[in-house]
Amino acid sequence: MSDDVTFRVFRGEPNDEGIPIGEMVDYTVEMDEGMVVLDVIHSIQAEHAPDLSCRWNCKAGKCGSCGAEVNGKPRLMCMTRMEDILEETPDGSPVVVKPMQAFPLTKDLVADVQWSYDLNKTIPPLQGPDEVDWKFNQNEANRIQEFRSCIECLLCVNTCHVMREHHLFDEFAGPRFFVRLANLEMHPMDQGNRLSKIKDEYGIGYCNITRCCTEVCPAGINITDNAIIPLKERVVTEYYDPLAWVAKKIGLRK
Ligand code: SF4
Ligand code: SF4
Ligand code: FES
Repeated sequence: MSDDVTFRVFRGEPNDEGIPIGEMVDYTVEMDEGMVVLDVIHSIQAEHAPDLSCRWNCKAGKCGSCGAEVNGKPRLMCMTRMEDILEETPDGSPVVVKPMQAFPLTKDLVADVQWSYDLNKTIPPLQGPDEVDWKFNQNEANRIQEFRSCIECLLCVNTCHVMREHHLFDEFAGPRFFVRLANLEMHPMDQGNRLSKIKDEYGIGYCNITRCCTEVCPAGINITDNAIIPLKERVVTEYYDPLAWVAKKIGLRK
């Protein structure tokens, strides 16, 4: 590992119309063994730019706050080892760091993710039975455990073309919230039914199963195959399956 590294970092803020105005600025700092990208950002703050904004909290891949685009790929800065970054960066080129591009900009490396807090509030929470029966199949518990490992980093949303290129934030809930919805819909205690919202308000039909979200998930959640596809299947069964419709009419199915 060389002694110095140059980072090319986005510096800027949105103008009155919300359009990001800024520039890429080069900073060179000394490297230490075992550094991650976030360490380098902290060195830049300490040595060159105390006003450089970035978001972080746990430095352990658990809080989901430090997402950014490093060399064009969405990653958690605290879990991205400099050793790996230097290996992929061509000799003599800087390491390029930008905020998540699908979201509006707050400042420098901080993206404005208010959308996710607003959307989260619209999701009907767990609706348990009045009298709880704690007995359920272990497989049912195991199935949702994967969804509960989501750290809400939104790297998946940042990657999804429905958000990033088509900006359908008002029509599409995006991969992170399909994970949350799958967690609720498959919960063995839940008695709610969110399928109508999943179809209409959350626009699951916009997902064309490209699996880009799954590829970037730092928690290793199989978002597409285990959350989105089963939700799509439930929507199809509920609204488009003629046999299920007949079964419902004659009372064989709720
Ligand atoms: S699989 Fe669906 S949610 Fe995931 S990136 Fe592709 S379109 Fe977006
Ligand atoms: S599903 Fe994965 S990528 Fe998406 S918010 Fe959760 S942890 Fe992050
Ligand atoms: S600082 Fe918490 S996930 Fe990176």
